[in-house]
Parts: sequence; structure tokens; C-alpha cells
Amino acid sequence: MATINDNYLKLKAGYLFPEIARRVSAFAEANPEAPIIKLGIGDVTEPLPEACRTAMIQAVEDMGDRASFKGYGPEQGYPWLREKIAQQDFQSRGCQIDASEIFISDGSKCDCGNILDIFGPDNSIAVTDPVYPVYVDTNVMAGHTGPANERGEYEGLVYLPINAENSFTASIPTQKVDLIYLCFPNNPTGAVATREHLQAWVHYARAHGSIILFDAAYEAFITDPAIPHSIFEIEGARDCAIEFRSFSKNAGFTGTRCAFTVVPKSLKGQATDGSEVALHGLWNRRQSTKFNGVSYIVQRGAEAVYSEAGQAQIKALVDFYMENARLIREQLTAAGLSVYGGVNAPYVWVKTPNGLSSWDFFDKLLHTCNVVGTPGSGFGAAGEGYFRISAFNSREHVVEAMKRVTDKFRA
Ligand code: MLT
Repeated sequence: MATINDNYLKLKAGYLFPEIARRVSAFAEANPEAPIIKLGIGDVTEPLPEACRTAMIQAVEDMGDRASFKGYGPEQGYPWLREKIAQQDFQSRGCQIDASEIFISDGSKCDCGNILDIFGPDNSIAVTDPVYPVYVDTNVMAGHTGPANERGEYEGLVYLPINAENSFTASIPTQKVDLIYLCFPNNPTGAVATREHLQAWVHYARAHGSIILFDAAYEAFITDPAIPHSIFEIEGARDCAIEFRSFSKNAGFTGTRCAFTVVPKSLKGQATDGSEVALHGLWNRRQSTKFNGVSYIVQRGAEAVYSEAGQAQIKALVDFYMENARLIREQLTAAGLSVYGGVNAPYVWVKTPNGLSSWDFFDKLLHTCNVVGTPGSGFGAAGEGYFRISAFNSREHVVEAMKRVTDKFRA
């Protein structure tokens, strides 16, 4: 009989969001009339920007004409999209990123997992706790960890606790780690990192030969002008960081699929024989072998994000969700709950009241308010006692959900 990858057996029951969906379906089946409002998974609700739709419609027409028809595109993405990203997302903010360092993909979640293909099996890996579960689970799948303990912490990973005391930004580790996952604006806590904090990480990484895997999928939601949007705004980051970006949340592409990863050409890792090898070439080789690129139609849609109309439309989308975040923050605070995040990020991180566990609070909200959020413990042991509320929903749903929750907790 063929054998399996035993590492999968180390994974906890289910990926967090399918597990929530399972519990919500069971509740909905038993209570078919319950008007459930989902503020759990960070999935967008508002329509695609008009500029993107128009560009995609035109791209469909291009595909219908022999003269402009496209077959396989470049695995790295079309140059016209990579150029616009390099100019408008990076060079305009003073980052020395070239179009050839940008790899278009179908999602940051995929890239965050796939990036492990180009790293060796023996790296020490640091993650914050709580953390976006994909970083942990993909390392478990790749055999980079031992089994999980009863708290759900995997042997071999270095967990960096983030909490209200450290403003949900991890202290720089005292030991050497090789790969560090950082996510800012943070999923799940909604925290952001100051320039000084990121500079400290870059110093650490350069001193130890470490690589920072920087997930900036939520950068568009930063409202504070002093907060960096990219790790490449920090001097020295080109030599120690890879950045993941996405069109999912700023342009509503969760169902359309387009993202990109930035691998600077100056970034190097070490081969077993001690030689230094550029990671750009390895990622290029990986993508050329295992990936055939994002569809022409979708890339034209993403390109339209960088038009004048596209920029105005994505700003309106981001502002819309951030107004939801403000309402959530204000209502929950007024109801006496301790609330974090939601100012530079579309996630609000709430301390569960009366010492309730994260899952108990989840059940209470589902059963008494018919509102779905995400239990903090699903993001790691240190998330226990917290709960994440996503601002991605219609205004009507957010207002109604907050009314139900505040009525419950004021009572
Ligand atoms: C979340 O809710 O944490 C996000 O939807 C995860 C993701 O974007 O994959």
C-alpha cells in the first residue's frame, strides 16, 4: 500500500475556518430560522471595483480575438502588472523593488505555504502566538515540527507571545531562529508595527542570517501615516525579507484570486555545502515548475487597481470596511468589552468577558445572538480568552450584529 505523509496526522482536527463552518452549519440545521450573521472568516462582501470588472470584461474580449488571444502567460506574471506594482506599491514609497522581483500568484495563503519548498528542512522557525494558522500548519505538513502538546503548540517551533502588554508585537527573540513569520497589520489581533519595531527585526535578521517572511496582505488598511506598509521601507530588508501581498482584501479578490510575492534578488540562503544561493532564482524555478500563472483576465483586473479610477474605488472599499471596524470597536467598547485592533486593520480583537474561554464565547454569541466570530484560541494557545471579529461584511449586518451583541452584554 502506498504510504502517506505522516506529518498530516500531527495536525489538529481541522483548519480553523472549516471547523467554524462545520459548527455554524450544525447550528443552522438545528435552528433553520436563526438569522445568522457571519463576522468570522475575513472574506469580503462588497462587489469588485468597477475599474476591475471593466478591465476583465475587456480581457475576455481579448481572448475572443485571435490577434489578442493569450495562451500560457509568463509563470511570474505579465510584465505590465509587475511594473505597476513595483512603481505604485514600492518605488512610490521609496522601496528599491524592481518589477522582476515581483511574482504574481493566485493567493498569499498559497505563497506563504509554498515558500517552504525553497528552504531546507532543518531551519528553526519562529511564529507569533496567536498567529495566522497557515504558517504553522504548512510547517507541520512539511515535517518541520514534532507533535503538538495539549495546548496545541508544536514541538520545535519557537512561539513568540503577543498580548496586550507588548501591544501585540513580539519581542525580538533571544535565541537564533532562521525563519520568522511576521504579519502586519496583524491577523488576528489587528496590531501594527512601528518603523522602529520593524527596524529591530531587520537588524536581528541580518545579524543572524535569518529570513523574515513578511505577510502584508492587510497593508491597505493602515490609516496611521507613520506606519510602514512594506518591510522594504526598512533599510537592509532587501537582504533578509520576502513579502507577501494580496488583492483579496483591498480589491475584493478573495473569489477572483490574485496576489504577489516579492523576493529581492539580493536575498540569499545557504546550501548544504556552505555556498550562498540567491532565493530569487529558487523561487523562480519553483514557480516555473509547479505553477502556470494567474489567468490573463484576472491579471488585467488586478492591473486596473492601479488606474486612477481603480485607486479611488479600492480606497472607497477600504474606507467602507474600516467604518465597519470603527462601529465594531465603538459598540463593543461601550458594552464594556476590552477591544484591540480595528484602527489600522479590518480585525477587532476582543477580550472575552467573565473569563469565558474563546470557544465558550463563540458558542454563546452563536446561540444567543446568532453572530459568528473567530475564537482566539484557534490562532494559538496565547489567543485563548480572546475573540476576533471581522469588519468584512455589509453595513447592515455589522450594525445589526453589534446591536444584538451590545444588547446582550449591556443587559
Ligand atoms: C482570515 O479570516 O483569517 C482570512 O480570511 C484568512 C485568509 O485570508 O486566508
